[in-house]
Amino acid sequence: MLKEEDKIFKNLYNSFGWEIDKSLERSDWSNTKEIISKGRDWIINEIKTSELRGRGGAGFSTGLKWSFAPKEVGSRPHYLVINADESEPGTCKDRDIIRFEPQKLIEGCLIAGYAVNAHTCYIYIRGEYFNEGNRLQEAIDQAYKKKFLGKNACGSGWDFDIHIHYGAGAYICGEETALLESIEGNKGQPRLKPPFPALVGLYGCPTIVNNVETIAVVPTILRKGGKWFASLGKPKNTGTKIFCISGNVNSPCNVEEEMGIPLKELIEKQLRRCNIMCNQSNVSSNEFSILRKDQLKRLWSTTLTGHESFRCSIFCAKLVNT
Ligand SMILES: Cc1cc2nc3c(=O)[nH]c(=O)nc-3n(C[C@H](O)[C@H](O)[C@H](O)COP(=O)(O)O)c2cc1C
Repeated sequence: MLKEEDKIFKNLYNSFGWEIDKSLERSDWSNTKEIISKGRDWIINEIKTSELRGRGGAGFSTGLKWSFAPKEVGSRPHYLVINADESEPGTCKDRDIIRFEPQKLIEGCLIAGYAVNAHTCYIYIRGEYFNEGNRLQEAIDQAYKKKFLGKNACGSGWDFDIHIHYGAGAYICGEETALLESIEGNKGQPRLKPPFPALVGLYGCPTIVNNVETIAVVPTILRKGGKWFASLGKPKNTGTKIFCISGNVNSPCNVEEEMGIPLKELIEKQLRRCNIMCNQSNVSSNEFSILRKDQLKRLWSTTLTGHESFRCSIFCAKLVNT
């Protein structure tokens, strides 16, 4: 089981307070200026070393994606876009990051924005997350007040602004190019790729799109080192992950665990609150299927790596006897 000291999200249950002063006590924003002063190449290499893969579903290497942003800014500005659409059934990890650890996301945005040469960041949040959007705006305002955002953000010499953009509740707008269309005010329909957003994205400009959780773990990785993150989890699926557990359990909840944790351990040891489970969300088809006992037995010892663990919604229902 993940050691307490290796947990990134110490306030996942809001035990210590979400406000910026409380998050400063948890070491958020502690040496951001120093991290940025190490330069883009150092940041991107460290993220590559961590083997962090995007937590939005596709599991693409984050360091590699950042390296696709043009090294020099030409005639078009660069943008960073954060995907907080989170419409996958049973998934609410980004929601709790926004509610309880917003400064981790905001600090991650500044560092990622600097790494990909973006002065402007849009956080695209699903319309149903109205209260969460308000909380996020409050957290952004607090960061501006401390001069962590805006001109010469956090004393780094980098100007950086964050804007929130609300979606209207369409699942497809979670797909990155449909999301960009939606921000531009168009119907949220995916674009043909290539060209990829890193070169032709928002308003035709180079744009890096990342999930909330992906960006929120960046500051801790850079503080503790890419090798530390890579030492957790499994080869090719490193680090920690927030798993969402819901359905027929006594206490639906989110838990941060190592990538690759066996489902049995997650349900039995970590939770101890589950009646019995037999469903798992299938990330690619977005369908839930009832499992027979033999299927359940097989799944029980499966380690959670790969696609199903990136979005990590585990929906528990009563065992079907067949
Ligand atoms: C139909 C569809 C829905 C998606 N919904 C989301 C979503 O709600 N949140 C998200 O972060 N990524 C979602 N994605 C993945 C995004 O297209 C994109 O890969 C991701 O935001 C990139 O961030 P990452 O590299 O940090 O994972 C979706 C993809 C598809 C095809």
